[in-house]
Amino acid sequence: MTQLSPAHEPQAAPTPDAPGAPRTPAPLYGGTSSRRVTVRDIARAKERGERWPMLTAYDAMTASVFDEAGIPVLLVGDSMGNCHLGYESTVPVTLTEMTLLSAAVVRGTSRALVVADLPFGSYQEGPVQALRSATHLVKEAGVGAVKLEGGERSAQQVELLVSAGIPVMAHVGLTPQSVNAYGGYPVQGRGEEAAQQLLRDAKAVQDAGAFAVVLEAVPGELAAEVTRSLHIPTVGIGAGPECDAQVLVWTDMAGLTAGRVPKFVRQYAQLRQALGDAVRAYAEDVVDGSFPAAEHTFS
Ligand code: KIV
Repeated sequence: MTQLSPAHEPQAAPTPDAPGAPRTPAPLYGGTSSRRVTVRDIARAKERGERWPMLTAYDAMTASVFDEAGIPVLLVGDSMGNCHLGYESTVPVTLTEMTLLSAAVVRGTSRALVVADLPFGSYQEGPVQALRSATHLVKEAGVGAVKLEGGERSAQQVELLVSAGIPVMAHVGLTPQSVNAYGGYPVQGRGEEAAQQLLRDAKAVQDAGAFAVVLEAVPGELAAEVTRSLHIPTVGIGAGPECDAQVLVWTDMAGLTAGRVPKFVRQYAQLRQALGDAVRAYAEDVVDGSFPAAEHTFS
């Protein structure tokens, strides 16, 4: 966990800037600035070799916890389909659902850059449809950026959005909106041809103006090569330790998801167990009459 590559060695603690000296940029994680993180802050973090964490968020209350913990980028992922809305995949998520939940996450945060996923069917028709959907999310939900899936196949969409002033995070490797075409969630980029395609995809979205690219479920060595060859940051999920940033679905990371989680997830809490225990204790107190007690009762 603590083995860092040279590009990712810990930064020296920022010292107060001497008068007239260029200002030391605040680190993305652990920074103290009261303004929102911007895509320029993210570009500078790559220049400094600073790693940063990203998490998904789907509501104002948990988003405020992540914001207070200093997570610099929150993704309102279409994983809300599986994790929040009870769908079997991300495919059914609509632009209306994405807008409602993104607006809640924006309201719950003051520092994090909030990135909203463009749902399946809201950008595949072409750049104009993508611009209409992304504009809706920026205006109605107040997000600072959008994310869409695909490399070469989505480069034109990325280009138009960026030219219209909407920052875009791209997503290559395993793209979950294609679950029906894959027939599951297979690791991507294995073998020379697939690896070359992944490199082309990552390069295509960078050239189209994306400010970062998610690499999902790809071999660690390939993700490291992509990370070295791009000037924009890579955000890994199941892509090994050499990416510039890491993202996890928060319900997986915190142990709220039912059943098995993917191999690449580390669980930092067991919220499902803790919440279930709390709910059972409350229910038993109600049944045996020990709640509410005198201190919970108005005289
Ligand atoms: O929707 C999502 O949560 C995502 C992450 C897995 C990157 O796209």
